[in-house]
Amino acid sequence: MQLKSQNYTLLRQGEADDLPQSAARRRWNRRPIWQWIVPGLLAVTVVLALVITRAKVEKDVKWDHHSNLPACPQYPALKAASSDREKLEKEVKDAIDSDKFFEKSLKNMQGAVQIPTESFDDMGPVGNDTRWDIFKDFHKYLEETFPLVYSKLEFTPINTYGILLEWKGKDTSLKPYLFMGHQDVVPVLKVTESRWKYPPYSAYYDGRFVWGRGASDCKNVVIGVLEAFETLLEKNFIPERTIMAGFGFDEEISGPQGAQFIARHLEETKGKGSIDLIIDEGGLGIKDINGATFALPGLGEKGYFDARITVETAGGHSSVPPDHTGIGILSQIISAIEANPYEPDLTPVNPYYTTLQCTAQYSPDMDSWLRKTIQKALSSKKAAKTVADYIASQDISQRYLMQTSQATDLISGGVKINALPEKVYAVVNHRIAVESRVKDVRANLKSVIESKILPKFPLSLDAWGEVSGNTSASSVGQIFLENFDEPLEPSPVSPFDTDAYKIFTGTIKQVMGEDVIVAPSLMTGNTDTKFYWNLSKNIYRFAPVRDGGRENAHTVDERIGMKEHVEGVRFYAQLILNSDRS
Ligand SMILES: *[C@@H]1O[C@H](CO)[C@@H](O)[C@H](O)[C@H]1NC(C)=O
Ligand SMILES: *[C@@H]1O[C@H](CO)[C@@H](O)[C@H](O)[C@H]1NC(C)=O
Ligand SMILES: *[C@@H]1O[C@H](CO)[C@@H](O)[C@H](O)[C@H]1NC(C)=O
Ligand SMILES: [Zn+2]
Repeated sequence: MQLKSQNYTLLRQGEADDLPQSAARRRWNRRPIWQWIVPGLLAVTVVLALVITRAKVEKDVKWDHHSNLPACPQYPALKAASSDREKLEKEVKDAIDSDKFFEKSLKNMQGAVQIPTESFDDMGPVGNDTRWDIFKDFHKYLEETFPLVYSKLEFTPINTYGILLEWKGKDTSLKPYLFMGHQDVVPVLKVTESRWKYPPYSAYYDGRFVWGRGASDCKNVVIGVLEAFETLLEKNFIPERTIMAGFGFDEEISGPQGAQFIARHLEETKGKGSIDLIIDEGGLGIKDINGATFALPGLGEKGYFDARITVETAGGHSSVPPDHTGIGILSQIISAIEANPYEPDLTPVNPYYTTLQCTAQYSPDMDSWLRKTIQKALSSKKAAKTVADYIASQDISQRYLMQTSQATDLISGGVKINALPEKVYAVVNHRIAVESRVKDVRANLKSVIESKILPKFPLSLDAWGEVSGNTSASSVGQIFLENFDEPLEPSPVSPFDTDAYKIFTGTIKQVMGEDVIVAPSLMTGNTDTKFYWNLSKNIYRFAPVRDGGRENAHTVDERIGMKEHVEGVRFYAQLILNSDRS
């Protein structure tokens, strides 16, 4: 999964100074005292009237669906519950913090990066396409590198290269924890190879970073989880709760052969809802926002939908054309779609709303107008809309955390310069806001075409089988709306008040520092977790890497900071230790 480094700088102090109300307030302040009385009375009346109306309007709105929770719930750093456990935790911490571990871990990471487990979009089935064979080498490498894991845990290969590891717990009444990651990496394009500072599969270590494709997406996760397992096995630790690892091998091409099979296997063998906590790559890691340090696990993912728009019109010679060819009509459809974009909005369903509540509460340097408005949004839809509009106007990556995106990315049609195009199509990509569904996007496309195009052209519209428009034989053609590929609904939003969440975030604070604020966040892309929704409601996408520790996923000079990697191993190990709680 590529992590877009989101830019939160717009939340900085002073940025909202130019808002219109500041200018109005300055003029207002210059008035002499006596002039305050009448407007003052007027203002009081207006405010009272507004408050009364607002209360009436908003009473019926089920606005704050987390009403039993604080705006930004924080749970305490966990501590060892007994002196024996304290001793074990110290041993584990000392082992991972040792120079010996660092050297070993560096070797582990380098070896993993040096095996180019690339997955390509046009990959055939496993067993048929020889490009998968490299994963055999990767499996062999893991078995050699983690002897205790492979001798003591149950290993099940899933669809040949999927890895499922099960570490049986003592207490079978506790539902397992599952650690996810993927073995594959984005291919390095030949033409970009020379742009790398160090060759992409050399895994060169410069004293700070291991450089190479996959170093931070996400061999660090796979190796980090296995290092945590191996370290605990060295201490003869046996968990109370069953601990599992599931590593797919085609996440970068959306996981049709890897994670999907693992999830299906788990659903068949363990059942729906059988896992207490799932942790995968993703999220925004740990970063500073306006003077405070935040851990930003992804609690939800936007949906994904590609709609194909096809226009079929009569062919003929281009010397006697109609006023609009199929290409002309399709162009007008695309223009109409672009002229009717989705609007940003913020609701409590959206994890980004909670990100903002957390920054408003804990970031000392946030602009005070913005802070107040975000906090007002706790009880006011209007304030939420103000925040959404303001942030959207400042920063495009944050805009799309609050609205459905639409982008026409493919177009095809026209075969000959003297022939009218009979069939042309375009494909519009959508990333669906968490409040919305695929059916809403479909309805919107249908409605844009019905209101903007059908009045202009005698065409019929077949929108996913629903027919409207001019269906007579004399119509000039047809428009079809259909799926281009398999759509994906927005993910369920994981809760942030469950025991699993408290243990997960309590571990973050225990390892990364009690000053770290954990803020739920939203992902605009998808990880392999999209196949696991039926297995657990507690799905958290969080690569435990501090800001600056991972760079350039999916592009040249990808790298991982070894110091940050080792801290991540401590997090994984501590989460396993803490999983004994229930
Ligand atoms: C397997 O590979 C062969 C040759 O590369 C190809 O022709 C065939 O279509 C493939 N079969 C499947 C099921 O993809
Ligand atoms: C359909 O389009 C044709 C051609 O423009 C027109 O003559 C006819 O009246 C239209 N029918 C309807 C029901 O609008
Ligand atoms: C979850 O279960 C439902 C009902 O059995 C099924 O239709 C759906 O495809 C499953 N979802 C995933 C992501 O596997
Ligand atoms: Zn990834």
